Amino acid sequence: MSYVVTIDGPAGAGKSSVAKRAARELGIKYLDTGAIYRAIALILAKSEISPDNEEFLREALSEVRIELRDNSVLVNDFDVSGEIRTPEVDELASVYSALPVVRSALLGLQQDQEKYGSIIAEGRDVGSVVFPDAKVKFFLTASPEARAKRRYLERISKGKDANYDEILAAIKHRDDNDSKRKTAPLTVPEGAIYLDTSDMTEDEAVKFIVDRVNEALTTK
Ligand code: DC
Repeated sequence: MSYVVTIDGPAGAGKSSVAKRAARELGIKYLDTGAIYRAIALILAKSEISPDNEEFLREALSEVRIELRDNSVLVNDFDVSGEIRTPEVDELASVYSALPVVRSALLGLQQDQEKYGSIIAEGRDVGSVVFPDAKVKFFLTASPEARAKRRYLERISKGKDANYDEILAAIKHRDDNDSKRKTAPLTVPEGAIYLDTSDMTEDEAVKFIVDRVNEALTTK
């Protein structure tokens, strides 16, 4: 029988890499809900639809087509997977994802992914709002400094410009936005296993998650 695993947590806690690897080890699909919010934010900003204009937002959201493929996100048939991974889109996604009209428009698309088999979904409210009945829920976090260091090293390793202090400030700013917003603020979902990865390697975090899921599959 198919099942859902959720991983929520703040920006840069390593959720994506850990969730991707855990999905591979468990032989299930990975659902990156942040990519959906990023894609929508990019398209709304490009269409110059202000976050304050609820009517225009609703109209645009009803017309936009988002498609998820294995490693890519398509908006109206355009692959935006590369374009959504920039500091500008970090900020735009944080703003647009705070709007109830945006969140409710994207809820069905996320929940539909369960129809295609077992998934490990990663985001900010996947264990609380999107998949409240998930088989196993995790809340993955790390200190802002540990997260900033990881993001810094990641950008450097890709040959991109990076400034640690700027990254740290941006992470704190986004944490603030994501946890204080009125709609779906970042919280630890009920029943979630809390995992602080500040002093853990990625291998350790992946193993922890895969072990807990396998335990839940054999005992429940
Ligand atoms: O995980 P990420 O950095 O790719 O997420 C991008 C933005 O989208 C971030 O500001 C939080 C938001 N988001 C959200 O509100 N709900 C989700 N389930 C996933 C992401």
